[in-house]
Amino acid sequence: MSANLSQAAFAKRGVVDGVVAAVREVVGSPAGPVPLHEPEFAGREWDYVKECIDTGWVSSVGSFVDRFERDLAAVTGCAHAVATSNGTSALHICLLLAGVRPGDEVVMPTLTFIATANAVSYAGAVPHFVDSEPTSLGVDAAKLDAHLRDVAAIVNGVCIHRRTGAAMRALVIMHVFGHPCDLDALAEVAARWHLVLIEDAAESLGSTYHGRHTGNVGAVSALSFNGNKVVTTGGGGAVLSNDAALAKRAKHLTTTARTPHRWSFLHDEVGYNYRLPNLNAALGCAQLERLASFVERKRRLAARYRAALASVDGASFHDEPPRTASNYWLNAVVLDPAHAGERDALLAALNDAGVMARPLWTLMHRLPMYAACPRDDLAVAEQMEARVVNVPSSARLGD
Ligand SMILES: Cc1ncc(COP(=O)(O)O)c(C=O)c1O
Repeated sequence: MSANLSQAAFAKRGVVDGVVAAVREVVGSPAGPVPLHEPEFAGREWDYVKECIDTGWVSSVGSFVDRFERDLAAVTGCAHAVATSNGTSALHICLLLAGVRPGDEVVMPTLTFIATANAVSYAGAVPHFVDSEPTSLGVDAAKLDAHLRDVAAIVNGVCIHRRTGAAMRALVIMHVFGHPCDLDALAEVAARWHLVLIEDAAESLGSTYHGRHTGNVGAVSALSFNGNKVVTTGGGGAVLSNDAALAKRAKHLTTTARTPHRWSFLHDEVGYNYRLPNLNAALGCAQLERLASFVERKRRLAARYRAALASVDGASFHDEPPRTASNYWLNAVVLDPAHAGERDALLAALNDAGVMARPLWTLMHRLPMYAACPRDDLAVAEQMEARVVNVPSSARLGD
């Protein structure tokens, strides 16, 4: 598609053709398929990984693990970071740190990746699904507050779901595609209802809300460094916190709850082997050195999508919410409500054109293991599920 395709030509096309043309204008016409998100190793990754192999420090302790944790704290502005084996294990630990116990309910969005709900299950708790708002795609604070007024009561300082009698101990929010959700409003609702706030910041490394890095408002937060994230360690994650005691406990729980001793194996509770190997942390240190470049180029790519999609009738670009700076982990096209029925046609057309495109995750309450969980009305999440399509978002596309 030529770069100077006129606005009039776009307007005459159907929405599917219009979006495909706009996306092709942005990603160009490479020989092979354009992946949704590919990692980039153009920094000191080889040097650092080689250092691990040369020195033999490849496993669960080593200087790169310590350095990665220090670098993560510096980048996010959080006082403490504890590296973990992946984002899901980080979320599991966050829930335990929040005091979630078997039989509790955890308030969380239905619009999220499966790991958020699974971590709640690993803690023996039950997800309680709430709706999202269309600007950030994150939890709708006002609707959540109204829902809690309908179904919950504070009894002896604990939020209780009146119908089930379960304690609702925590609220997990998620910054979808890297766009920060409305943290101030959500923190206020969480405080009013005595819910510990946990940020699932798996997708939002490099994103800020009102100038603060995501992950700073929750009592604890989780990051992911899976291969498809802005920064990757191959597989990995981290728990963030500004509370020294919580961070210390995160380290303890993720390292088999072993108490320090020169030679004895003493463990004071059931812990987890959720450590991040030094080999992976080495990759992470090199990747973090390039975070600013990744985010800058991803934001440039987002600006190109914004411009190209501005001329398409029937669809729009999923822009960052006001007073936030998103890392644009994944760019998204949002079909107008009138075109919701054309989502699958758009997915087929983009993939046929060699452009990897994906729908939103299947909403959690539709999955068999979570279908019977308590929930609010989820109308907005359901509408957005039918309208959102992710398009290629690798940093190199913003060069
Ligand atoms: C929102 C969200 N939460 C949690 C995770 C889990 O992270 P991991 O794959 O590192 O376990 C991911 C991504 O993978 C995610 O996108």
